[in-house]
Amino acid sequence: MPLDSPLDAAYWSTRYTLGQTGWDAGAITPPLRDYFQQMTLPKTARILIPGAGRGYEAEYLHAAGYPNVFVADIAPEALRDLQQRVPDFPAAHLLEQDFFALSTAPPYDLIVEQTFFCALDPALRPAYARQCAALLRPGGTLMGLLFDTEFSQPGPPFGGSQAEYESYFAPYFDFVQFETAPNSIKPRQGRELFICLTRKA
Ligand SMILES: C[S@@+](CC[C@H](N)C(=O)[O-])C[C@H]1O[C@@H](n2cnc3c(N)ncnc32)[C@H](O)[C@@H]1O
Repeated sequence: MPLDSPLDAAYWSTRYTLGQTGWDAGAITPPLRDYFQQMTLPKTARILIPGAGRGYEAEYLHAAGYPNVFVADIAPEALRDLQQRVPDFPAAHLLEQDFFALSTAPPYDLIVEQTFFCALDPALRPAYARQCAALLRPGGTLMGLLFDTEFSQPGPPFGGSQAEYESYFAPYFDFVQFETAPNSIKPRQGRELFICLTRKA
């Protein structure tokens, strides 16, 4: 179904300017924090957080000693917020760019997803899976959270189901985890899938 208005940079900038950011958890969420705490990636790993918003995950990883964390967002207000909160976060790693136009070289080792996929026009979902695969090295990981629910209001956010999502990712990824997250924040409990997918060779 075509959307009434484009979900472009002007749309998202306005949401930040007006403070209409209900998706923003205000801190890193437990599923991502717990994953980061146990992951064995070398500290030199290249990590991308697309549609990062205010970038609490980037702040966490930066503080944990990962120097190659990149955030991409089309809303400059979101990137500015991260820059102000974390002044020593490398400015060159704040990519004010469309996710679909990001350079695929050099490749990333890890992509982190949280409420970006659900913010996109659902017609872009196959392209999202394809672009994540293009951005990752073979064996690289796409991990994070996807809503496993339908919303009564018109999106964004746009909901969906595990079966639907699997069809987008299966051509490019092996599924390590794709299950209800046990530790979502309260308003999302039982309505989020934790995904950990590795890019096929
Ligand atoms: C619902 S917000 C989620 C932000 C963040 N992940 C969070 O959980 O707080 C969606 C974000 O994606 C950004 N965005 C939307 N379309 C984009 C695109 N094509 N490329 C990059 N960022 C995009 C918006 O500016 C917004 O910051």
